[in-house]
Amino acid sequence: METHGVTKAKTLDELIQILHKIFASDRINVEEVQDVMEAYDSNVDDWKMYSKFDKLRYTRNLVDEGNGKFNLILLCWGEGHGSSIHDHSDSHCFMKMLQGELKETLFDWPKEEGGQMTERSHKILKENTVAYINDSIGLHRVENVSHTEGSVSLHLYSPPFQTCQVFDQRTSHKTTAQMTFWSKFGERTPFTTTATKENN
Ligand code: SIN
Repeated sequence: METHGVTKAKTLDELIQILHKIFASDRINVEEVQDVMEAYDSNVDDWKMYSKFDKLRYTRNLVDEGNGKFNLILLCWGEGHGSSIHDHSDSHCFMKMLQGELKETLFDWPKEEGGQMTERSHKILKENTVAYINDSIGLHRVENVSHTEGSVSLHLYSPPFQTCQVFDQRTSHKTTAQMTFWSKFGERTPFTTTATKENN
């Protein structure tokens, strides 16, 4: 269905089909992707099979590999869970709120190591809205600041990436972090002994 020129997905599966069509092209219109993701009204029945919470940290659950063009990942944030300040490895990052709220804090790229990072702004992301960031906009950290409610967000990264840079807020020191999945397509990812540094 088209509403005001935007194709409205009635389910998550429909949204994924629409995203496949959009990303089949090599030129991506950020506003179009944002509008299509925003037009989908979150329904827990669509995504509960990917929704897996951990007591200690937020989880990253792979939903779709976007024919190699993007990764669609469901993130489950328990009370007080948050990411490190990070970049997006030259990719687009779209973030749709499926449940609850998250706080997004934007930071400037540090000019040099040794000093405190500069916080530029912050905002609360509400259910069904879509935030967008890339490396030319800056760096961000995302947190569930609630003490009582979990939050769930759907992230689209294009092109997909396996590592990103994380930053220490006090010193601006950066390290490379490996992105890992808690589950893939609804199934718990087998435990590996390879040391990884998660982005959280
Ligand atoms: C975020 O944007 O904070 C989530 C990063 C991730 O994909 O783990």
